[in-house]
Amino acid sequence: MEQLIEIISDEVKGAFNKSGYDERYGNVTLSNRPDLCEFQCNGAMAAAKEYKKAPIMIAEDVLKELEDNDIFESVEAIKPGFLNFKVSNAFLGKYVDKMHEDEDFGFEKTKNPLTIMIDYGGPNVAKPLHVGHLRSAVIGESVKRISRYVGHNVIGDVHLGDWGLQMGLIITELKLRKPELCYFDENYDGEYPTEAPFTISELEEIYPTASGKSKEDEEYKEAALKATKELQAGRRGYRALLNHILTISVGDLKKNYEKLNVSFDLWKGESDAQEYIPDMVQLMKDKGLAYESEGALVVDVKEETDKKEVPPCMILKSDGASLYTTTDLATLVWRVKDYNPDRIIYVVDNRQEMHFIQVFRCAKKAGIVRDDVSLEFLGFGTMNGPDGKPFKTRDGGVMRLEFLLDEINDKMYNKILDNDTIEKSEAKEVAKIVSLAAVKYGDLSNQASKDYIFDVEKFTSSEGNTGPYILYTIVRIKSILNKYKADNNIDNLHIDTPDSGSAKKLMLELVKFQNAVVSAYEDNAPSKICAYIYDVCDAFNHFYHETKILSCDDEDKKKGYIALLILTKDILEQCIDLLGFSAPERM
Ligand code: ARG
Repeated sequence: MEQLIEIISDEVKGAFNKSGYDERYGNVTLSNRPDLCEFQCNGAMAAAKEYKKAPIMIAEDVLKELEDNDIFESVEAIKPGFLNFKVSNAFLGKYVDKMHEDEDFGFEKTKNPLTIMIDYGGPNVAKPLHVGHLRSAVIGESVKRISRYVGHNVIGDVHLGDWGLQMGLIITELKLRKPELCYFDENYDGEYPTEAPFTISELEEIYPTASGKSKEDEEYKEAALKATKELQAGRRGYRALLNHILTISVGDLKKNYEKLNVSFDLWKGESDAQEYIPDMVQLMKDKGLAYESEGALVVDVKEETDKKEVPPCMILKSDGASLYTTTDLATLVWRVKDYNPDRIIYVVDNRQEMHFIQVFRCAKKAGIVRDDVSLEFLGFGTMNGPDGKPFKTRDGGVMRLEFLLDEINDKMYNKILDNDTIEKSEAKEVAKIVSLAAVKYGDLSNQASKDYIFDVEKFTSSEGNTGPYILYTIVRIKSILNKYKADNNIDNLHIDTPDSGSAKKLMLELVKFQNAVVSAYEDNAPSKICAYIYDVCDAFNHFYHETKILSCDDEDKKKGYIALLILTKDILEQCIDLLGFSAPERM
């Protein structure tokens, strides 16, 4: 469906043309003085130079051409040369009714679908998710949904951290505890058991224990490094252990991500890049890019225009072991080979920016990805506690994500119980839905690159720019619709001409749907969807407080209101789905 603002622009351009001016001056924007008008055109000021005429004269010429145009309720020429417009109620009502009729509210999918890979989540196996993993999951999931809605072919990859020292640490600790296991016997050539020799809770305890020991015990650390290298070199027993660790960890991670309403198309990890490393390293050597420096293999990636120093990209350590950069580069090899993406978006903490500058440059230099593939770092800021410092537990440790979510869930549950029409069991379910919205909206409503304060009190409040406020608004609409539905059919209702300022304002917000989604896509910015739905909710709540809806005695008018409510609810629910959460029936 053509955008309302484009329809208006076309009319104004036509009028410029008819009055003898170039139509490019007729571009229309949203008004920045909503108290005076809804749309405006500043083209007369620019045209004045070309036509050597006072801008107000040009504006008045154009105005004459538009006076009888029934798209407009009013057109004004204001000194020095602004054209101010209000759209006609009848035209707006018809336009919004068409949105209500059309599939996807008239949203036009892209004509040029791209293949986009999104690298997000990034959990490390055998370690529980901590608060640092929340933002990547929440932002990445939303960016994925938005890109998909726009019509692109989108593949989400979790990119597990499963190839570093943590694997060697786990193997070392396990060997100490159960040396008799066949995985440690180098002469063993039989099949390995299908059952893992540990549970997830053992695994979660083994890693921190091993990590602690390695910091104090040099010999232990050496053993872990050696085990890591042997694993990377393909030692059979260690590979089998890695597979056990992966199976157990991934099962647990899936459960946790499911609770967050986050899912991935691919569950690949750093270890999947391993097989591509030798050829890739050879290629970099053959091209004369990789050279030895202090025993390590590196590639220069600095550029003349760099403002800060970009150190060489390390490809292999002096002992031949691979690094974080190595696996990220080799991951690009299979991503290109298997999916041939046009864009790859990495949703990772801002603090890893330099790593990605190095990886992207090295990948392009070595020809691992074509020059026209867009490699994008979508860095996010730190989630801070109320004291403005990175979130910590009371004793200063890293906060487990589960605990943080439980806290906000309990808070929400108690608030919902205050509404004494809701049974305890229903309140539990509702609390899950609303607390997820509180967390996700609290995060996504901020610009991703900025730090923000995780403020439980604020996020769970039903007033202000919060997830619960958005959900309250949706639930309010649902409850009106349910009451109406009890005695009436709600199919085939049409939206009418707005009959009040608040109805018109609501419609003028709703028509911005396409623009909100497209600009959120273009900027990888779910925050733009948040800003949009916040405005829609505000406009709806004004309309609601000023309008007798169910008690309206004009049945036809009431039908028009109900249709407007349905469209508002559908758009809001579509938008929160793009953000990765949903609304309950009651709260
Ligand atoms: N596992 C990493 C971490 O916890 C994040 C991975 C991000 N993605 C990537 N391709 N490097 O810091």
